[in-house]
Amino acid sequence: MAVSHWLLTSVLLLLLFITHVSAQQGCSVSDSEVSVYENNPPGYVLTTIHVDPGFTVSIDASSQDAKFFTIQGSELQLAETVDYEENNVLMVTLICWNSDVMSNYLDVLVIILNENDNSPVFKQTNITQVVPEDTKVNATIIAREELSASDADQDTIFYELTTVVQDTEGYFAIKGVNNPEIYLRRALDYDKFKLTTLLLYARDRPVDSSDTTNTATATINILIEQSDTKPPWFLPCTFINTDNNICISSPYTGRVNISEVSTEPLILEPGPIYAIDPDYTINERIVYSIVGGNTDDVFLVDADTGNLTMNKAATSPDGFLLQVMATQVNNIQKYSVASVEIKVVNKSEHPPYFENKIYSGTTFVGLSPGSFVFQAGDSSSPLMITAADDDFPDKVNPNIEYYIKNSTDFTATRDGFILTNVVLQSPETVTIEAVGKDTVSLQEASTVIMVEVVRATAGAVTSSDKAYTAQDMAILGGILAALLLLALVFLGVMIYKQYRKRVKYLIRKKFSKEISGGFQSQSYNQDSLPDVSTKQHEASENGSVQSMARVLEQPALPLPSSNAEVINSPPEASVASTITFDQEEKKEEVEDTEPKKEVKSILKTDRHVADYGYKAVWFKTSGDPEAGETVEVIEDNAVDSDDESDQDLQKKEEEEEDYDKNDHYRGLGASLD
Ligand SMILES: *[C@@H]1O[C@H](CO)[C@@H](O)[C@H](O)[C@H]1NC(C)=O
Ligand SMILES: *[C@@H]1O[C@H](CO)[C@@H](O)[C@H](O)[C@H]1NC(C)=O
Ligand SMILES: *[C@@H]1O[C@H](CO)[C@@H](O)[C@H](O)[C@H]1NC(C)=O
Ligand SMILES: *[C@@H]1O[C@H](CO)[C@@H](O)[C@H](O)[C@H]1NC(C)=O
Ligand SMILES: *[C@@H]1O[C@H](CO)[C@@H](O)[C@H](O)[C@H]1NC(C)=O
Repeated sequence: MAVSHWLLTSVLLLLLFITHVSAQQGCSVSDSEVSVYENNPPGYVLTTIHVDPGFTVSIDASSQDAKFFTIQGSELQLAETVDYEENNVLMVTLICWNSDVMSNYLDVLVIILNENDNSPVFKQTNITQVVPEDTKVNATIIAREELSASDADQDTIFYELTTVVQDTEGYFAIKGVNNPEIYLRRALDYDKFKLTTLLLYARDRPVDSSDTTNTATATINILIEQSDTKPPWFLPCTFINTDNNICISSPYTGRVNISEVSTEPLILEPGPIYAIDPDYTINERIVYSIVGGNTDDVFLVDADTGNLTMNKAATSPDGFLLQVMATQVNNIQKYSVASVEIKVVNKSEHPPYFENKIYSGTTFVGLSPGSFVFQAGDSSSPLMITAADDDFPDKVNPNIEYYIKNSTDFTATRDGFILTNVVLQSPETVTIEAVGKDTVSLQEASTVIMVEVVRATAGAVTSSDKAYTAQDMAILGGILAALLLLALVFLGVMIYKQYRKRVKYLIRKKFSKEISGGFQSQSYNQDSLPDVSTKQHEASENGSVQSMARVLEQPALPLPSSNAEVINSPPEASVASTITFDQEEKKEEVEDTEPKKEVKSILKTDRHVADYGYKAVWFKTSGDPEAGETVEVIEDNAVDSDDESDQDLQKKEEEEEDYDKNDHYRGLGASLD
């Protein structure tokens, strides 16, 4: 503590001494080290100079930067604008005079501060670069050094690349925001664009900075140079992709006469063998050769022109399927193969011809398309044109096909019938040209048909009915379909009639379960169960029968389409039955007490008098293959006959139930037949 106190006192004393000495020297500045931003205005005040009376001050002209300084009154000023990029620190010495005697020196240091007053600068602001089409993706297009901008303020430069030309975006990019190297980002295609222009911006602040930003721009013109990328294309060809850089040709076809050597190059369809180099600015030379299908070396192809000629005659009627290859001379791996199908035909000495130079026909206004044109004056015979061919003994060349050359209102069938192709609107006379073409020799003959279009009369309508056009056939088909439908409906009604009884029976069965007296259904007896068909209608006078009949006469049953439907379908009837049934049950209790069902003998010789509602045993007396008399239980369900052999006959109710179940089952079985 004592030591620090002593130190502080010493320092203060020393300062007092220095101040006293300098004051004694007569001149001082308030700041001997000053910071100033560059680009200052002239006359910028650096510091104030204190001069004691009797003293004067001046700038030491020999000091390094004296020209920048001036003393105005008591101020030291900068005489001119200072550029940080030239001088970043200035020093000046002031001399203090006492009369003419130099008293002391004062050094003033001026530190110049930088301002962002310089733009980045590109070495070149306009660059043109030729880029081969087949440049690899990621390859450098223009190196970093060529594109880096400099900045006198020593700022970090931020780059941005944009594309000026539409639809060429995305192909070129810079490596990074601070690395202007341009590289290829997507594969080029000369057919898409041949040149583009890029703008490279260099900024001395990030793009989103709020500071004053200086920007330089360089224009980069990119010229794409086509590369030898594509193999030859045989023409004509069709593009198979949207980029239109793959083109596939269809086969060439031609024909030769059997046993004859053509001296001329063969005429092919759709044109002569011809391939191009799709890299058309390079247009490499192409050579042709036959690489397959040239049995017996019948054909030759000219390597330069692609003309197909014959070496020898074709001796067999079998055709040829030649494979012709087109290869780039500079690179045999750039090739395409096209097929050339050559038919071998019988020589046609005579072209076909029409015996009639002119045909006359009639048709009617308003006929549907596809109607026959009739012979003029005979509206019952369709007009038919025929070309004869003297190469054939009967002049009938089966290879001739017909077509109409200069009208779309009419068509010709392969056989030579003339049909309308539209609904003709007004009466007129139309002249059309028809052609008969031998599809083997390709020889043609032509003739003229004059068709008179007249208004339809009653007679015309009937005659048109005879034409049996496609429409007529459609109408006939419709009528037949309607008849079939009628037949089906009739059949359905018959089936319904047949099964309605079954339905009634099935519904009735539901009730008989709980109606102890039971009753018989007429239909049951008649149709379904011949074994019991003559059972007595003991319960017919039972009131429940009438009620039941009432229920069953509800006419709501639909036409039966399936048995399941029949059994389940009439919900109204079921509801009604249930309601009716409740009433019946009450009656039932009363009826049970009545002596309606007196005890009968269960032993019978005539099974036909067996009653519904209980079982009888009968003795077979008829001629039976089984020896002697047998006892057989009359069983409703033949399938299940031994089931009840041990049943107690007294348990009537149970049996009733059993009976119902079996019968219902059989009913289903019968319905499913
Ligand atoms: C190009 O470079 C990027 C990044 O290095 C890489 O992901 C990409 O696979 C490269 N593409 C090709 C075609 O070399
Ligand atoms: C085949 O014979 C016909 C008729 O003589 C002729 O017009 C044609 O040019 C011949 N074809 C060829 C390929 O020589
Ligand atoms: C034969 O080649 C020449 C030259 O390419 C061509 O002009 C001519 O049409 C070709 N002839 C046939 C019949 O293809
Ligand atoms: C070609 O002519 C021969 C005999 O002249 C005959 O037997 C053969 O059927 C003909 N071929 C065709 C396709 O007409
Ligand atoms: C069709 O061609 C024939 C003969 O060349 C001509 O008389 C007629 O007027 C043509 N018809 C039409 C509809 O062009």
